[in-house]
Amino acid sequence: MRVTPIAVIGKGNVGRAFLRQIAATRAAFLERGLDLRVVAVAGRQAGLYAKDGIDETRLRDLAEGRAKLDAAGTPTGWDEITAHVAGLGLPGQIVVDLTAEDAAAHDEWLRRGWHVVTANKKPLTGPLPRYDAIMGHRDAEAPAYRYEATVGAGLPVIASLRDMLLTGDEVIEVRATVSGTLGFLCSACEEGTPFAAAVAEAKKRGYTEPDPRDDLSGEDVRRKALILARLIGHRKELGDIAAEGLVPEGLASCTVDEFMDRLAGATGAIDDRFRAVARRGRTLRYMLTITKDDVRVGMEEVPLGDGFGGLKGPENLFVIRTARYDANPLMIRGPGAGPDVTAAAVFSDLLRIIAH
Ligand SMILES: NC(=O)c1ccc[n+]([C@@H]2O[C@H](COP(=O)([O-])OP(=O)(O)OC[C@H]3O[C@@H](n4cnc5c(N)ncnc54)[C@H](OP(=O)(O)O)[C@@H]3O)[C@@H](O)[C@H]2O)c1
Repeated sequence: MRVTPIAVIGKGNVGRAFLRQIAATRAAFLERGLDLRVVAVAGRQAGLYAKDGIDETRLRDLAEGRAKLDAAGTPTGWDEITAHVAGLGLPGQIVVDLTAEDAAAHDEWLRRGWHVVTANKKPLTGPLPRYDAIMGHRDAEAPAYRYEATVGAGLPVIASLRDMLLTGDEVIEVRATVSGTLGFLCSACEEGTPFAAAVAEAKKRGYTEPDPRDDLSGEDVRRKALILARLIGHRKELGDIAAEGLVPEGLASCTVDEFMDRLAGATGAIDDRFRAVARRGRTLRYMLTITKDDVRVGMEEVPLGDGFGGLKGPENLFVIRTARYDANPLMIRGPGAGPDVTAAAVFSDLLRIIAH
């Protein structure tokens, strides 16, 4: 029996979906000689650590949100989490980061020889020296680092690009819509919904962050653009990528409730923009474009009903042109968010590390 110890940091939407998927498939993997053993689950307030694996019932309860860590847990912080995982003393363990925290200690974990799988973009989009500490000097002996879920959720974007590069292809251009929230807003506005009403609807459906300005600022798209740009060789910092923000002037620092109340009176210009492009048979999408020389993020006019202009709701589309896929670019299209598809990408990354 091959035992793979797994430490899961973050037990929110994606964390719970990941634990559910592990619990649901554990027996089948055991039959095939693989013990996917969850040895740690940690959140902000508490963590549960068990060298021989967390009891199956407790794991299912955590996955379903029926149990909280706090009752039996250990106080946490990043140093404590690292110390507790180290204290388990398990070789070959995989640490899975399902938080959205900048301070997540990926470089430290790799230095300790632990494999890392992440859905968290922030450590990867920090300053270049930190990025290099995470990505640098990878050889066959180095612990693995995988981050498929950081861009396009479950869509195989990073693996595809990486395989193309590894086999000597040359990326000419990546164009993509990578924000489910902004995709939803653009397709609602194109159908005539005022921008403010579309934001309210997206918030009601749980598509936006608790503060919708976190989506409207373009920050999330910039981070995804930076991850892809660095993957294909750009040496850029987050600050080098300008993003067109959709937060109206004067509404950047009020409370969320005030923001929602005042939005309708401040977004006439965006509604006008959608009406103007519609008269030309076109529409707007919030795009990222990466070429060898440039990284751009912002609203772009595209033909209605075709390719990007044909996307509905929170769908993502990636169009990747390379030396080999030039006349007919590779297209990857599908849901760009959702706990289940994101957790499945994390799970697949983990299985690839084991199979290596
Ligand atoms: N949801 C999606 O569709 C999606 C898609 C692609 C990528 N992602 C990425 O996946 C990650 C998780 O997303 P989510 O939707 O699951 O978020 P979430 O529901 O907000 O969960 C975040 C989790 O991180 C934990 N956490 C925060 N700070 C921590 C700390 N210092 N130490 C330990 N745990 C900490 C929180 O712990 P507590 O429970 O104790 O508060 C919470 O359980 C994010 O980076 C997100 O960008 C999400």
